[in-house]
Amino acid sequence: MKFFIDTANLEQIQEAQDLGVLDGVTTNPSLMAKEGITGEKNIRDHYLKICELVDGDVSAEVIATDFEGIVKEGEALADIHPQIIVKVPMIKEGVKALKYFSNHGIKTNCTLVFSPGQALLAAKAGATYVSPFIGRIDDISSNGLELIEKIRLIYDNYGFETEILAASIRHTMHVIECAEIGANVITGPLSSITGLLKHPLTDIGLEKFLADYRKGNS
Ligand code: E4P
Repeated sequence: MKFFIDTANLEQIQEAQDLGVLDGVTTNPSLMAKEGITGEKNIRDHYLKICELVDGDVSAEVIATDFEGIVKEGEALADIHPQIIVKVPMIKEGVKALKYFSNHGIKTNCTLVFSPGQALLAAKAGATYVSPFIGRIDDISSNGLELIEKIRLIYDNYGFETEILAASIRHTMHVIECAEIGANVITGPLSSITGLLKHPLTDIGLEKFLADYRKGNS
């Protein structure tokens, strides 16, 4: 299972990278804006910085919504660095562009996926990754994890190679349940990864081991 971090914040990306378990980064226009990164050149430079920090895939989202625009923008993004994955929205023109990119050897991440049918289309179009947004589904009183289960079943039925990238992860239980279901990748905030470390019995146990060591060596 791959761990991606869902942020454009360089310090957080570095912290996740230093932990030694990071496989990639996902960004989106909102995350870029949150870091104050605006303007085409600054955005491109920022993607480059992210690629230089991590070893794995870095999703960079297109802004265009027409086929020609998505292709032009996606090709320019892919040229920034070999680690760039072109993030394309699940819209009609996006599906056409996914197929184009797949035919031209450009890796893609189909974003804003909220139904099994959309995930099936993305796989048919040859997307490298599909991003179902489980947290946003939970936010509207539905079950995001059920969507991951359905996509896993469909992809396994037909041997689709598109990787399920569970996105919009909110907390550690999302990560664990996605691992149980068999999502290929999760992307979430740093806290959803570092939270996996925590258990009170680990802290209590360690404190006792160290106290006993000190007693025996004083
Ligand atoms: C995925 O690639 C998106 O960037 C992301 O996971 C969206 O998450 P959010 O619902 O927390 O904004």
